[in-house]
Amino acid sequence: MKVAASVLASDFARLGEEIRAAEAGGASWIHVDVMDGHFVPNLTVGPAIATAVRRSTDLTMDVHLMIEEPDRYVEAFAEAGANRITVHEEVCDDLPATLERVRDLGVRPGVALNPDTPLGRIRTALPSLDLLLVMSVHPGFGGQSYIPSTTPKLEAARKLLDEAGSDAELEVDGGIDATNAARIVAAGATVLVAGSAIFRHPKGATAGVREILAAVR
Ligand code: DX5
Ligand code: ZN
Repeated sequence: MKVAASVLASDFARLGEEIRAAEAGGASWIHVDVMDGHFVPNLTVGPAIATAVRRSTDLTMDVHLMIEEPDRYVEAFAEAGANRITVHEEVCDDLPATLERVRDLGVRPGVALNPDTPLGRIRTALPSLDLLLVMSVHPGFGGQSYIPSTTPKLEAARKLLDEAGSDAELEVDGGIDATNAARIVAAGATVLVAGSAIFRHPKGATAGVREILAAVR
């Protein structure tokens, strides 16, 4: 089980320091939330910040594209040093083709599903994905509450991946903290994304990551 620290909730004026603090607490990945103001109502960061993240850490950089027309931007994020790029199923006309494009850039492809998007939508893309991201909030903003119906969806996703013989990571994103992490891991998740619980932790990001890890061990 791995923790992916979402820098969306970090202090961008101290981005390098914040990332190093999360790393010191035991974060395995750094999660970068890219929003375009179309697929989701919010705007966040682009390849320039991804490049800054890359320069701050050797951890896996996990880029979550909440954008329309992701094919137009995957190359820029690959050049910025992304190790993983996850696109939303809801915006891809030819999901396997988008995933292959990411893989051809030397980056591991993933697919994200909104809370209302059924799991069945990824069936044809299953052989091409290295990661399935199940959203546990409606994407767009940090600091929301975990949607409880995510847990049975995760159990179904775990089953789907296992039956397909897939060793893809099962990632969950939104509203995760030390109070719900153990249940989410028990449902079969392998990567927990957390922003607020880490970077808004009163004792700082190192303590924030440690608290989540302690809750699942
Ligand atoms: C939501 C983003 C999440 C978010 C997680 O649209 O994809 O990664 O930053 O933040 P918290 O942990 O605050 O819910
Ligand atoms: Zn995310």
